Amino acid sequence: MDAAARARVGDTGTMRVAGAHVLLTGATGDIGRHLASRLAQAGARVTLVARSRAPLDALAAQVGGHALPTDLTDRAALRGVVPAAESALGPVDVLVNNAGTETAGHLADLDADGLEELVALNLLAPAELCRQALPGMTARGRGHLVNISSLAGVGTVPGLAAYGATKAGLTHLTSGLRADLRGGPVGTLAVEIGPVASVMMGRIGSHPPAAAAFERLLQARALTMLDPDDVARAVVAAVESGRPTLRMPRRTAPLAAVTHAPRSLVRLALTGIHPSRARTAEHAP
Ligand SMILES: NC(=O)c1ccc[n+]([C@@H]2O[C@H](COP(=O)([O-])OP(=O)(O)OC[C@H]3O[C@@H](n4cnc5c(N)ncnc54)[C@H](OP(=O)(O)O)[C@@H]3O)[C@@H](O)[C@H]2O)c1
Repeated sequence: MDAAARARVGDTGTMRVAGAHVLLTGATGDIGRHLASRLAQAGARVTLVARSRAPLDALAAQVGGHALPTDLTDRAALRGVVPAAESALGPVDVLVNNAGTETAGHLADLDADGLEELVALNLLAPAELCRQALPGMTARGRGHLVNISSLAGVGTVPGLAAYGATKAGLTHLTSGLRADLRGGPVGTLAVEIGPVASVMMGRIGSHPPAAAAFERLLQARALTMLDPDDVARAVVAAVESGRPTLRMPRRTAPLAAVTHAPRSLVRLALTGIHPSRARTAEHAP
């Protein structure tokens, strides 16, 4: 498919990671650490975000990145993230919204503050960081938005109603951005992953219904336990190749394709409408 045809169907452009400034959130987590290493190995200059200063500084020293300690649920702090990253390492070329948390349990048993933090971190913060990064990326004619979502936003798992809702929202946000940005210079990547060998999965497993659900899906081989480094390598490759979605494990791709069918059908039906061009024209000086 040539570039023009890719733009028409909404497939966004490739992004060379070498030399790019990548803003990565949740950098010190089980997946984030591997993303930071793989991005740095691919030649990216990385700004790393998490709350705890010591592990962030240690990771920054290890991969040669810039540490930007921030609580992404703090509205005032969140507003300054892209400007702070850009004043340290220059324009952000790739934003990787990876920070996330989970709450496993019945909704009624969740703490009200915890519920707000879940939505703030998993959905509001990625949307806000995309909002901050987009104008500069559009003006420079280069950029990539990566949102780390979950298969819990595709299928429902007991005890993960709120978490799954944030991830379904994040996937849909990414799909909407892809439609808005089609034909323009900024690419998007929605990453939908199943369970990863991680502390987070350990916490989810402490809720017996969630543990039983994952055990059954793993035993039936509907899912496999993913290796965080395999996820990180696949994300870097997907950014470089410009593919709009990454689903892991691969065996879940048919299920996700069915779930995404309404989005795909609407996208096809709207082929030829270029919101990004219309917006650029509206805002041209
Ligand atoms: N693990 C899985 O099985 C799995 C499966 C599917 C999708 N995912 C998604 O993959 C992403 C990474 O998961 P993970 O397993 O690597 O998670 P993790 O190990 O729990 O790491 C979470 C990261 O986010 C940071 N963080 C947490 N709260 C924050 C806040 N308020 N502000 C800024 N940073 C914050 C943490 O550092 P601090 O605590 O220092 O802030 C840490 O760096 C998440 O979005 C998750 O939903 C994970």
